[in-house]
Amino acid sequence: MRACALHIISTLLPIPCRLVPAIFYSRMTTAATNPACADTDRPVLVSVRHLKKHFDLGRQQRVYAVNGVSFDIYEGETLGLVGESGCGKSTTGRSVLALSEPTAGQVTFRGQNIHQLKGRARRHALRDMQMIFQDPYASLNPRATVFDLIAEPLEIHGLYRNPKEKAQRIGMLLEEVGLNPSFARRYPHEFSGGQRQRIGIARALALEPAFIVADEPISALDVSIQAQIVQLLQRLQQERKLTFLFISHDLSMVQYVSDRVGVMYMGYMAELACSQDLYHNPLHPYTQALLSAIPVPDPEKQRHRTGQILHGELPSPLAPTVGCAFKSRCPRAMAVCQNERPVWREYASGHFAACHALDAEGSQS
Ligand SMILES: Nc1ncnc2c1ncn2[C@@H]1O[C@H](COP(=O)(O)OP(=O)(O)OP(=O)(O)O)[C@@H](O)[C@H]1O
Ligand code: SF4
Ligand SMILES: [Mg+2]
Repeated sequence: MRACALHIISTLLPIPCRLVPAIFYSRMTTAATNPACADTDRPVLVSVRHLKKHFDLGRQQRVYAVNGVSFDIYEGETLGLVGESGCGKSTTGRSVLALSEPTAGQVTFRGQNIHQLKGRARRHALRDMQMIFQDPYASLNPRATVFDLIAEPLEIHGLYRNPKEKAQRIGMLLEEVGLNPSFARRYPHEFSGGQRQRIGIARALALEPAFIVADEPISALDVSIQAQIVQLLQRLQQERKLTFLFISHDLSMVQYVSDRVGVMYMGYMAELACSQDLYHNPLHPYTQALLSAIPVPDPEKQRHRTGQILHGELPSPLAPTVGCAFKSRCPRAMAVCQNERPVWREYASGHFAACHALDAEGSQS
């Protein structure tokens, strides 16, 4: 096993190594330092309404990847998107950035429907929205130097007046993400995973975006490097007033880096709330099951916890959903869940979910 400082701490505290960074992050991003949740007057930067994305596979087969999700992203916040593999997180992120045309629904950025923008207006809007990818290996052209990789977006958008200014900008970007500007003439394979992710971040920053979709930006990295990259993203967010959509399958991670968290299941949004609300008062049975699987850092509490194991079949994304998508695995499923889709409602201020059991509780109280 790889020896790292976090691993050593994890053996001393009897908690899993992967949870240690989450505990550190919790110190950095607590409710008190997290004004976005309380501040509902903040302007909305990105608005997603009834977004659907279905992929046609031919022979009348379709993948129902995203089935009508709606959410807002406020300026300056980090909205986390979490859920099991295949639930539609990346497809949602790609549709938000107009990298994929939606089947239905709309995405507005600063009030403009980005999928309807054309020509210069579209180029201008898309410049403000960038992506950081999961796999720095795959996302960087191995035959291009770091200089060329970062220069490419600058060249496409003509963002420099002369070669000297271009070189200066590239040097400053490398410094900003913690890399030595002298590395500019090297190739991606000469760097470690963490350094390559820093190059990916520098490339995303080159166009000075306002909004970044970070799709599993740390899950391919060693656990000790994950903390460094998260710290870098948080520093850049503060310095550049960035807004993030942070995608991950790891709820403990998403919770600690995000102001608010949306939980997706089979192309639907199950629940969305402030991170602290979601953690302390999860409403949806799927969120409750996800949270129960996260170990807590207190060994005494952890000993008495019973993780909720989800039984039942995962539905196929190749068939349209009838009723609630979670019904086959839900411990609270009722007759109505079989045929009626639960409605997305706000159950408390800023706390949304879609579940018949919550409606039934509300009507009884
Ligand atoms: N281009 C495509 N063509 C066909 N199906 C696709 C395509 N892209 C994604 N899918 C399917 O859409 C569904 C959602 O995929 P998506 O990549 O958005 O999930 P995800 O939540 O990001 O998963 P992961 O955590 O594994 O990255 C999956 O069933 C996937 O196989
Ligand atoms: S709607 Fe029904 S099946 Fe779906 S999560 Fe709620 S109780 Fe469970
Ligand atoms: Mg994905």
